Amino acid sequence: MFFKKKMQHDYDLDMHNIPGHIAFIMDGNGRWAKKRKMPRTYGHHEGTKTIRTLALEANRLGVKAMTVYAFSTENFKREASEVEYIFKLPKEFFNLYLKELMENNVQIRYIGHLEMAPIETQNIIKEAIQRTSVNSGLILTFAFIYGGRDEIVEATRIICEKYKNGEISLSDVTEDYFEQHLMTKDLPPVDLMVRSSGECRLSNFLPWQLAYAEFIFDETLWPDFDEEHLHRAIAIYQGRERRFGGVLK
Ligand code: IPE
Ligand code: IPE
Ligand code: MG
Repeated sequence: MFFKKKMQHDYDLDMHNIPGHIAFIMDGNGRWAKKRKMPRTYGHHEGTKTIRTLALEANRLGVKAMTVYAFSTENFKREASEVEYIFKLPKEFFNLYLKELMENNVQIRYIGHLEMAPIETQNIIKEAIQRTSVNSGLILTFAFIYGGRDEIVEATRIICEKYKNGEISLSDVTEDYFEQHLMTKDLPPVDLMVRSSGECRLSNFLPWQLAYAEFIFDETLWPDFDEEHLHRAIAIYQGRERRFGGVLK
């Protein structure tokens, strides 16, 4: 029998001010495992459970989109064995949780260079995207083999090509137009970015999209991050004043 873990602290959330899009930098898996004298891969394994927990809770709260940083273009610097292990995780994740995510109306998407992943990983992710494409609940996007600078350079290249072919003129290249060439073009603006494990940097995650997001750096290591930490982050977000360069009346 399952018992829902009792929350230590009840945050009084304003249900009319739930962030529409929350982006997570899922950090601290390696340190979490090290503390337990386990290999780093064990931390990655346990970290996938947090994605499920948070996706279900975010969906329940009415969050429209949740984007998780699963593998950066720079993470290829790691040992091949760790990279290979991470590339096998989507299979396990969707085998375990796709049915439940379907039942909860969650839609799966990805941003990044999926074509650089092993073919089996590509197929698993494409199948999850395809099977959940009609769902209208939370949009859960995996940033997988993703790099923000790469994304901006790629968009620039596409726009330059259009200019070269005479399809557009220089005055067409506005912020809105540029944004339409980013991998996130169909996602709502990011309201809140949460990074676990206490590191206070972006590590090449959504540099364009986070220009006006609220940032929360939480000390919790990713496998320990749960519903209560999500509630706390949303409560902190709700206490912030977003000004977007203006002056509050
Ligand atoms: C985050 O955890 C997961 C990935 C970057 C894939 P880390 O593996 O970076 O864990 P730490 O930061 O070494 O503890
Ligand atoms: C960022 O974490 C990448 C992901 C969470 C996928 P890293 O652990 O790779 O970042 P750095 O190296 O500490 O900046
Ligand atoms: Mg890290």
